[in-house]
Amino acid sequence: MTGFTLYPEHLDRAAQAELADAVLRAEAAAPRYRPVTPGGKAMSVRMTSFGPLGWVTDAAGYRYEPLHPLTGQPWPPIPPVLLEIWATLADAGTPPDACLVNFYDADSRMGLHQDRDEADFSAPVLSVSLGDTALFRIGGTDRRDPTRSVRLASGDVCVLAGAARLAFHGVDRILAGSSRLLPGGGRINLTLRRARAR
Ligand code: SIN
Ligand code: MN
Repeated sequence: MTGFTLYPEHLDRAAQAELADAVLRAEAAAPRYRPVTPGGKAMSVRMTSFGPLGWVTDAAGYRYEPLHPLTGQPWPPIPPVLLEIWATLADAGTPPDACLVNFYDADSRMGLHQDRDEADFSAPVLSVSLGDTALFRIGGTDRRDPTRSVRLASGDVCVLAGAARLAFHGVDRILAGSSRLLPGGGRINLTLRRARAR
């Protein structure tokens, strides 16, 4: 699929550790929680967000909100290292205004979906992976399009731009124990997005 680019080990081990630390520290103000789909199912992934807007789901639907649903406080700022990666690989002109933080444990999965709650699909989505490797699946813009499996390891960055911006994608499985980066194991995925119109 054109527009999907993988940058293996874009972050070296020191940068991964620093980013993981920043995420875990930010959780004091914006703790991870288990979201519920509009259909009432608890997700297996836990989430929080950084930036002016955070992606949320509940009985009222999928959307972006300026406040953490449990604390009622604004989301913490997007760590500067992520803004730099975005400016280098995604879009030097417009910064992201949302960073979704997904926490996966050994049994977490994410079903095939499109990222389409943003106002402007011309901005790419940029994903940074930390910790255990994920078996990521990506297809085309039709749910029935063929898909392929891509391993996302710690430090890998990928960009969904152009035709891939609305590609169906998901996480089939986490390879538990494949990384020692995160205390207690698991995987963190950070996706930077432009939620508001530019
Ligand atoms: C997502 O689609 O929100 C996350 C993808 C990933 O965890 O790699
Ligand atoms: Mn997604």
